[in-house]
Amino acid sequence: MAKARNSYICQACGAVAPRWQGKCESCGAWNTIIEETAAAAAVPVAQRSSRKGRSILLESLAGKGEEAPRTPAGIAEFDRVTGGGFVRGSVLLLGGDPGIGKSTLLIEVAAKLAQQGKRVVYVSGEEAVAQVRMRAERLALSKAPVELAAETNVEDIIATLGEGPAPSLVVIDSIQTMWTETVDSAPGTVTQVRGSAQALLRFAKKTGATIVLVGHVTKDGQIAGPRVVEHMVDAVLSFEGEGSQQFRILRALKNRFGPTDEIGVFEMTGRGLSEVENPSALFLSDRDLGSPGTAVFAGIEGTRPLLVEIQALVAPTALGTPRRAVVGADGSRLSMILAVLEARCGVRLSGHDVYLNVAGGLRIAEPAADLAIAAALVSSLSGSSLPQDAVYFGEVSLTGAVRAVPQGAARLKEALKLGFSRAVVPESGKAERVEGISMTTVAALDRLVADIAARSPKGLRAAAGRGEDG
Ligand code: TYD
Ligand code: MG
Repeated sequence: MAKARNSYICQACGAVAPRWQGKCESCGAWNTIIEETAAAAAVPVAQRSSRKGRSILLESLAGKGEEAPRTPAGIAEFDRVTGGGFVRGSVLLLGGDPGIGKSTLLIEVAAKLAQQGKRVVYVSGEEAVAQVRMRAERLALSKAPVELAAETNVEDIIATLGEGPAPSLVVIDSIQTMWTETVDSAPGTVTQVRGSAQALLRFAKKTGATIVLVGHVTKDGQIAGPRVVEHMVDAVLSFEGEGSQQFRILRALKNRFGPTDEIGVFEMTGRGLSEVENPSALFLSDRDLGSPGTAVFAGIEGTRPLLVEIQALVAPTALGTPRRAVVGADGSRLSMILAVLEARCGVRLSGHDVYLNVAGGLRIAEPAADLAIAAALVSSLSGSSLPQDAVYFGEVSLTGAVRAVPQGAARLKEALKLGFSRAVVPESGKAERVEGISMTTVAALDRLVADIAARSPKGLRAAAGRGEDG
């Protein structure tokens, strides 16, 4: 008889290797392969049932689609991200750095739902009941009828949840601490995490309860171990923010029942997380007015317009290879804009270090930010500050043309609301006028560069280090 073989499983991506190795060939991570016993996985062929498949009823797409019934948590910024509330029987994964506020957010959501008369169970595998209570007390939520437990065994948790009416919401904090008896591996390994998540998933589908799993994130931003869980769950939410700042951003990375581009903005205060209804005002609150190198970008996050300040610092380099450092935006996008500035607009940056930062800890992915990034870069290089009452948006193409971006009117309205009176936009943006905002259209990036250089006291050429003439 074949003896039970152990498998070697990468704890980062779940790939199975034939033997132990230092590097996972599937995801390239080092030192992530761990030996796990595979006893539960292998069912002898002879024991597998040999029944014939039974025919199932096939239906048409056009049938009466019942709208997935949703339970809003009653916290607008949270419901915005889930797509309008929790869907019955769904499983969500909430990832985020340790200490970012996942437990705080979920205890607030749990309390809100419990106060509406729903059955809510909060299971902590990391903290003792007294610690969770202490936090609830600080948040002034200890009166909410949330059922609390400190437990890590999935079978016990499911048996407990099965008693009484089916819960509306179950919070499992965190999935990495859970273990199931059906798997032999140690708690925290991929096999355990996957097994526990599967058991909880079956419970959710069977009873209609919504389950939120908390997952830790590793240094490089992956949800540790349970990357394998990401495929199983209905939605993956990520809670982000710079530890030193009080803003926290909730984002959906995957959502089977809603959009993935909405963000929820929170502020961490001494009394828990509070919702930020007007994030633009917050992100622009301590703007450094009048200094070169900053431009305000009128962006769109999901359905909501959002203004953010883009800061650039361009300084002569002391090194052979100049530095390029980016926080809050895409590094390859910056490289592209720098290349277009060099090749199409004659702006020499190869002898300069370039630093780019999106204020407030926000991360922007929209190509519409290109024009604002270019404006901030050229402003810093030339030492001339941009008009304080102007916003920028537009996508830069490799030819140096400035392309149209969607939802121009929404961006302009948000700018007007926050007291801006000028906008620098692509040529085609003229169609979308908003009363009270004067528009400057730029068809190509060199036009923007020329405009900024004209305002510069020292001129762009001198600043760019081509000082032959001076
Ligand atoms: P927590 O929810 O425990 O983080 P996570 O579950 O993601 O690890 O939040 C921990 C941090 O939040 C902690 O460093 C202190 C801060 N915090 C506040 O600033 N105010 C509060 O009211 C609470 C409860 C926490
Ligand atoms: Mg926690």
